[in-house]
Amino acid sequence: MNRIFSGVQPTGNLHLGNYLGAIRNWVALQHQYECLFCMVDMHAITVWQEPAQLKANTREVAAGLIAAGIDPKKNILFNQSQVPGHAELAWVFNCVARLGWLNRMTQFKEKAGKHRENASVGLYAYPNLMAADIMLYKATHVPVGEDQKQHLELTRDIAQKFNNDFKTEFFPLVEPLIFGVASRVMSLRDGTKKMSKSDPSDYSRINMTDDADAIAQKVRKAKTDPDPLPERPDGLETRPEAANLVGIYAALSDQAVEPVLARYAGAQFSAFKNDLVDLAVAKLGPINAEMKRLMADPAQIDAVLRDGAQRARALSEPILAQVYDIVGFLRP
Ligand code: TYM
Repeated sequence: MNRIFSGVQPTGNLHLGNYLGAIRNWVALQHQYECLFCMVDMHAITVWQEPAQLKANTREVAAGLIAAGIDPKKNILFNQSQVPGHAELAWVFNCVARLGWLNRMTQFKEKAGKHRENASVGLYAYPNLMAADIMLYKATHVPVGEDQKQHLELTRDIAQKFNNDFKTEFFPLVEPLIFGVASRVMSLRDGTKKMSKSDPSDYSRINMTDDADAIAQKVRKAKTDPDPLPERPDGLETRPEAANLVGIYAALSDQAVEPVLARYAGAQFSAFKNDLVDLAVAKLGPINAEMKRLMADPAQIDAVLRDGAQRARALSEPILAQVYDIVGFLRP
């Protein structure tokens, strides 16, 4: 049976990278698969979060997913900490994964930076918890942006080692689903850096909560180069900022890059940016409005998450019980 699991950290505003790289694909996939979509609050606290802000962000991200088109009745929408199996399976995986594997994780190196000794143990073990998220439901497919690819390879390694160690075929080897022209959306200020919640400049990203004025300002200020737009994609190879804006336009208008360039070849960025603003406002405006409407009723969002967590617990409990049995834990 095919089952999807994917997650998003409630650490701040959802941005265009989250939307184009992941959430939009989830909306499309929800009709073909059984899906679980998780606000990974336990991953969030691997770096410091203000408690009240974490609660608000968790609700806001849930509202963002629903506003983008995720149906919380058809799919399971929940926050990770309401399902204890995530932490429990993560402990088993802490004992399966090897230090050497975690030492290779580029995201840890980027996030810990020069202050490695000061990073939380949770940040280091983050990929094991992510593997547990997925394997707790024996999910077979995980739709994510390009930046999560290495974590999914590790998830496969952990599942494989568990199966080998315990001479079982218990865990499936998960397939990443990374697709679309915008699987890696870059910063609007620097086309070589990923668009990210943690970038100190708000001008580096378009947030799902930005209104039309903010979107217009950010797109107009986005870094470009002096040349007009090229005719073909190979003309973008050494122009990261131009490639990023064209990629965003293509993704938002559901086209490949070629037809976008066919239309804008030779155009100046000022004209292209005007059209990109109109397109982004037309696509994100309705999501933004719906998000605001949902956020006005936090109790309703909490009810959705409670219901999702109950359904997630029902799926996860028998799987965790089997894992504990395989590992050799005495059960009541
Ligand atoms: P997070 O919260 O950083 O991002 C959520 C999703 O958005 C994608 N994404 C991007 N895609 C394209 N361009 C970008 N600039 C960009 N920035 C973010 C991410 O690839 C992701 O799909 N570790 C995960 C959360 C997680 C998870 C999981 C995901 C925890 N457990 C289990 C899948 C399965 C993360 O930090 O995503």
